[in-house]
Amino acid sequence: MIAVDGPSGVGKGTLCSRLARSLGWHLLDSGAIYRALALKIIKDALVDADEDDWIQAATELDLHFEVDADRGTRIMLDGENVTARLRSEQCAKVASQVAPVAAVRTALLHRQQAFLKPPGLVADGRDMGTVVFKNAPLKLFLTASATIRAERRYKQLQSAGVDVKIRDLLKDIEARDQRDSGRAVAPLVPADDAIVIDTGDLSIDKVYELAMQLVHDNLSLVTSDASSTG
Ligand code: DC
Repeated sequence: MIAVDGPSGVGKGTLCSRLARSLGWHLLDSGAIYRALALKIIKDALVDADEDDWIQAATELDLHFEVDADRGTRIMLDGENVTARLRSEQCAKVASQVAPVAAVRTALLHRQQAFLKPPGLVADGRDMGTVVFKNAPLKLFLTASATIRAERRYKQLQSAGVDVKIRDLLKDIEARDQRDSGRAVAPLVPADDAIVIDTGDLSIDKVYELAMQLVHDNLSLVTSDASSTG
């Protein structure tokens, strides 16, 4: 399996889906699980409720990923397709508010670990290499400055016809980085054995090539280890 961590807007999602597609492996978008919990909390008017209510919502979350080769993955919350709604800034914001609660993270742990199935898994998140899949044989940590990530997001939104100010995007990204990295539980940090890739000056194709090279180096290590033990 491959664990890929890093801050928002660094290109993890694109990289992970390309890796999973090329390798024919499963894909875990762990951020989508936190966003789905956030949406549930918003729908049930629990944003200002006690942490206990968030923990209960996390424990009882009725969430399914329906994988369809043609139409992509549909994320079903309480039986409803919420895939598009999860991308909203509101879901991202509430997700990063509930994510620091240790018991919320524990409640979502097994749900994430259940994605590890043959033939393999590419896991995208903040704590894949440090907590959820500590034993992953290959861990990547992607970085890029907040300014570069804000510029990329700005271009994406502009081409989608959404009018935003780059200054506001940068402020949001910096605030979220601070919440994700500064929290006491499972903060956003590279695992000791992670390979750190600064994507600032790299195209997505180049990042993909680098990652694929690392996957192949790693697979050949696993194969030669296995053959040396007979
Ligand atoms: O990757 P994303 O933007 O979809 O994640 C949304 C929020 O969820 C992010 O601000 C922090 C939280 N998150 C987390 O705490 N741990 C993860 N493994 C993935 C996401």
